[in-house]
Amino acid sequence: MSRSAAPEGATKVEPDRATPRHVAIIMDGNGRWAEQRGLPRVAGHKAGAEAVRRAMQAAVDHGVEVLTLYAFSSENWRRSKEEIADLTGLMRFYLERELKTLQKERVRLKLIGDYSAFGPDLVGQLERAIQRTAANTRLTLVVALNYGSRSEIAGAARKLAERVAGGELAPENIDEDALGAELQTFGLPDLDLLIRTSGEVRLSNFLLWQAAYAELLFVETLWPDFDETAFAAALERYAGRQRRFGGR
Ligand code: FPP
Repeated sequence: MSRSAAPEGATKVEPDRATPRHVAIIMDGNGRWAEQRGLPRVAGHKAGAEAVRRAMQAAVDHGVEVLTLYAFSSENWRRSKEEIADLTGLMRFYLERELKTLQKERVRLKLIGDYSAFGPDLVGQLERAIQRTAANTRLTLVVALNYGSRSEIAGAARKLAERVAGGELAPENIDEDALGAELQTFGLPDLDLLIRTSGEVRLSNFLLWQAAYAELLFVETLWPDFDETAFAAALERYAGRQRRFGGR
């Protein structure tokens, strides 16, 4: 996963691809979308879930290999009990309804974050969906649930420390690749493009390590309004950027 420094001053630069292999999205603005319409917040989350379906389809259509979505951050537990129940209820409903779509479009579901916090029903449902879609190869849909990047990095450091304490790893062998291999995103292609909707310009503890060389794109569109055209426009802006990975 990590793009480690090349030895002897050689610059390790991956060839520029017009289409990103790995796109991540911070889906923001559901609440404001609902508020603008005088609707309850849950209506914004429902419309947001429809936008998830469209984004997934757009990723498949454009040949993106991995789409990572920030569905629930570790900070989202601070929301009201009702809103948390609405969000988990929606996840259950859509997971049930969209499992067929995942199979038809050959999408593999993967989760990052400590999703055990969601209780046995949803956890069971999520794990069944992961198992059933495990052999699909067209798109990997990574859903970040109860995810926080600092905690992920701290967890990776803890695992490395355990291996050092066990005599399995020498401290001098801890490098970017060793740490990257303990992250939950290990095995996925490097993150190429990170999009945040709704005009907020923050990473909010999402994929901090993985975003090291990603192109960042902040758009004003509220997440429920982010459609196929918006997805295509984001890819076009990505294609127009020159990635140098620190080289010239
Ligand atoms: C941000 O909007 C969005 C979220 C907190 C959760 C994202 C959830 C969905 C898109 C729906 C359900 C997900 C799945 C995978 C079916 P916000 O509420 O922070 O908006 P605001 O900043 O305008 O209040």
